[in-house]
Order: sequence, then C-alpha cells, then structure tokens
Amino acid sequence: MRIGVIGTGNIGGMLAKAFAACPDTQVYVYNRTVSKAHALAETSQQVFVSPSPRAVAEGSDVVFVCTKPCDGNAVLEEVGPLLSQSQFLVATISTVPFEKLESYTEAGVAKVIPSIAQSARSGILLVSHGPSLTTAQRHTLEGLFKEIATPFVVEEQQIRVASDLASCGPAFIACLLDMWADAAVRTEKLNYVQVEHLLSATLIGVAQLLQSGMTLKDIITKVSVPGGVTEIGLQSLRQTAPQMFDDLHQTTARHAHQNPVGNLFRR
Ligand SMILES: NC(=O)c1ccc[n+]([C@@H]2O[C@H](COP(=O)([O-])OP(=O)(O)OC[C@H]3O[C@@H](n4cnc5c(N)ncnc54)[C@H](OP(=O)(O)O)[C@@H]3O)[C@@H](O)[C@H]2O)c1
Repeated sequence: MRIGVIGTGNIGGMLAKAFAACPDTQVYVYNRTVSKAHALAETSQQVFVSPSPRAVAEGSDVVFVCTKPCDGNAVLEEVGPLLSQSQFLVATISTVPFEKLESYTEAGVAKVIPSIAQSARSGILLVSHGPSLTTAQRHTLEGLFKEIATPFVVEEQQIRVASDLASCGPAFIACLLDMWADAAVRTEKLNYVQVEHLLSATLIGVAQLLQSGMTLKDIITKVSVPGGVTEIGLQSLRQTAPQMFDDLHQTTARHAHQNPVGNLFRR
C-alpha cells in the first residue's frame, strides 16, 4: 500500500511512522517546511520525501491531509481534484464537513481522529466514513487502519464527544492523574516521584484488568467493600466529578462550534 501524508507535524509525523512500520507499505510525505519531512524520512527507510502535494497525490493510494484546520482548505483544494475514484482522501481535520470534503474530489473521503497512542501502534483511531463510500471502500480503509490501531467508526455528529474520549483522552487522563498526584503530595507523606510511580503502576494495572475482560464497573465493585474506605472515597468523587465531566464536554463542544478556524470550512 502507498500512503501519502501531507503535513508532517505531530499527527502526520506519527501516522507516517506508524504506517512505515507496516509490511509492504511505502509512505510519501510532504510538508510546508521541507526540513521537517526530511527529518521524518531519516527515521525509516519506508518514508520518502515528495517534492510537492501533487507528487504525493499521484503516487499514493490513500492521502492523509494532516495540517491545522486553517491550512487545510488550501491543501484540500489543491490535492482533491488530482485524486481519482480509486484513491482515498482522508482528513485529520475534524471540523471539515463531509459535504465540503466530497466537493473537493472524486476520491473516497473519510475523516480520522488519531490518538497519541498510535505512536505505539495502539489505541483507538476514530473513523468517520464519507456518506458516499461503498461498503467495500469502508472495509479497505478499516483494514488499513487496523494495521496501526483499533479503528472505531463514528457518525459525523459523534466525532466531538468521541474525540474527547479517544483523542484528547490520553491528555485528560494524564492531567487528572497529575492533579491527583499533586493532592497526594499536599498530604506531605509522599513526594511527587513516589506518587507518580504509584499512580502510573496503578493505571497500567487497571489497563491490564480491562484488557483481561473486566469492565469499569466490575473493577469498582471488586475494590469497594460496603462501609470500607474505597466506598467513602467513591461517594466523595461522585459528588464532584459528574459536573466536572459535564463541563468538560460542554466546553470542548462550544470551542469546536465557535472556533473561527474550523468555521473556515463552513462557507
Ligand atoms: N495533536 C493532536 O493530538 C490531534 C489529534 C487529533 C486530530 N488532530 C488534528 O490533526 C491536524 C494536525 O494537527 P497537529 O497537531 O499535527 O498539527 P501540527 O503539529 O501543527 O502539524 C501541522 C503540519 O502541517 C504542515 N502544513 C501546514 N500547511 C501546509 C501545506 N500547505 N502543505 C504542507 N504541509 C503543511 C505544517 O508545516 P510547518 O512545519 O511549515 O508548520 C505542520 O508540520 C489538525 O487539524 C488537528 O486538529 C490533532
């Protein structure tokens, strides 16, 4: 498979490296600041720098556009018309509506919302298929994404909240644990290094339990003995955390709606 990546920043660079580690895959990259693309190509013999977006379009089966939303319109306008029905145009820019994305190109279109976990070829990759994609095209894309992550298909209107969980999620979970660590340090019984170690090891343990088939609710029930200290702690959490998470989702949804950069696409 020939993968094209336009925009080799955090996300494009990560996708390029993840696909480059797959067998029988060549990755063609182009970036506005060319040195960044060359630095990426030095990390893998499967990554090749293309001289232009046109060269990426002409040499790839699937082209990922991984620029910031403010740069996306120009790139999509340039690349979209160069692609044929047998190719795919995949944007990591969640704010570009499908109607707009499909208007640029004859290629099959989709949006993906990656997560930092794909650096380890793991985690969820949110996928939203363009409405005109055939079942066969959907299978082709999902098969490709399975090489680097666990694809999870969402409808366009589900992207925001799903992104909070799967894409922003690693940062939100890390932030919660960091604040918990600070609170533990304020008890003056342990230092930050110690609490970070304890929380990290606990998180890994919880991840392994989940991987073994336990659900979140199973874990809560197993640990919480009636009248015990965990139950008291859970009661305290349940008083404050629901509002905090409601606020989180409302804030990100409001930002996505009001963000004038994303609205570039809503012309
Ligand atoms: N960061 C995340 O965790 C995350 C998660 C999910 C989705 N996303 C989405 O993914 C997209 C990329 O995010 P990012 O964090 O990777 O941004 P980033 O690090 O700023 O990368 C964007 C890259 O696009 C390049 N670029 C801009 N205009 C270009 C053009 N005309 N032709 C070629 N390359 C061009 C930039 O090049 P220069 O080097 O010249 O600036 C930069 O390397 C955004 O739409 C973002 O919303 C990000």
